[in-house]
Amino acid sequence: ADTQLMDGLGRRIDYLRMSVTDRCDFRCVYCMAEDMTFLPRQQVLTLEEIQRLAALFVAQGVKKIRLTGGEPLVRRGIVELCAGISALPGLRELVMTTNGSQLVKLAQPLADAGVKRLNISLDSLDPEKFRAITRTGELQQVLDGIDAARDAGFKRIKLNVVVMKGRNADEVPALVDYALARDLDITFIEEMPLGNVGRSRGESFCSSDEVRGIISQRYQLLDSAENSGGPARYVRVEGYGESRIGFISPHSHNFCASCNRVRMTAEGRLLLCLGQENSIDMRALVRRHPTTDEPLRNALRKALQGKPAHHDFTADGDVQIVRFMNATGG
Ligand code: GTP
Ligand code: 5AD
Ligand code: SF4
Repeated sequence: ADTQLMDGLGRRIDYLRMSVTDRCDFRCVYCMAEDMTFLPRQQVLTLEEIQRLAALFVAQGVKKIRLTGGEPLVRRGIVELCAGISALPGLRELVMTTNGSQLVKLAQPLADAGVKRLNISLDSLDPEKFRAITRTGELQQVLDGIDAARDAGFKRIKLNVVVMKGRNADEVPALVDYALARDLDITFIEEMPLGNVGRSRGESFCSSDEVRGIISQRYQLLDSAENSGGPARYVRVEGYGESRIGFISPHSHNFCASCNRVRMTAEGRLLLCLGQENSIDMRALVRRHPTTDEPLRNALRKALQGKPAHHDFTADGDVQIVRFMNATGG
């Protein structure tokens, strides 16, 4: 019979998000402080350790793995890691979330290594605003990266937009047009309070309801029952066949009851919920038991019993979780 992982509340966990590095070539204002310091390398899981943990989770019933960062494509050996993970028997799909900056070079190798889908951050179509949000990013490089991903044959590429008043909320219609014209999906995300990024998040907060209102002025939105088991609610657009528009609203919409996922940080902490700090140290177990998986399996099953019922984010803005988003890749 098929192995399945269940948490203590009867939720089936078949989706693992793995951060392969906390490093990034961008410094997005919602994700990092300007003077971020990164983990010393010996604290980060090796590629072999990541591969071993991925295999362990897949053997326990995980069907989908999403690689995240930081920026996953700045990790050396990432393409080989993808090839190794995508070959695991029992895995349905290996996917990745990226900022797109390296895709001109890496889209085709990733497709060849078995990565099935990409989510690409794109917060602005204006080079100056893009620079202001990412602090170091070059818009054209990302737009070229998106084209490269389309050319490499990736299906259902999804753009991610963190919407902030005073920065990019005015670009919502242009971003929707960009996605629809290219048959891409696009998800608008409410900013979440992870890490002290050195600015107040409350003032720029823009709710999904507001974003949806803006889009509705121009397009007729059709509710859709589709759900990835994840946080996004999707709509389709009348007259546009394939594209979906998603909304991630941790503040106003509770998706936790059907949560299907856990996440591994770059240093091997298994986090049971994005919005909570409780975790178990898989790195310690991996390093203590180099050849036997039994203790790892037991720890994993026990940890899942403690997965929280829901996150505790509130909309008033500021830091509720000390860890930064780049530690978990969202
Ligand atoms: P799929 O469901 O695999 O399509 O991906 P996704 O949209 O969840 O993943 P992606 O990496 O593109 O992340 C988009 C946004 O969703 C980011 O802001 C993540 O932080 C957020 N996110 C992903 N999982 C969760 C979750 O369990 N809870 C909350 N609150 N946000 C999440
Ligand atoms: N709130 C919401 N989304 C965030 N992301 C990064 N930091 C935050 C935050 N504080 C998003 C990025 C990327 C995804 C992995 O998480 O835009 O698309
Ligand atoms: Fe890098 Fe993504 Fe964080 Fe931006 S949101 S700094 S691209 S990890």
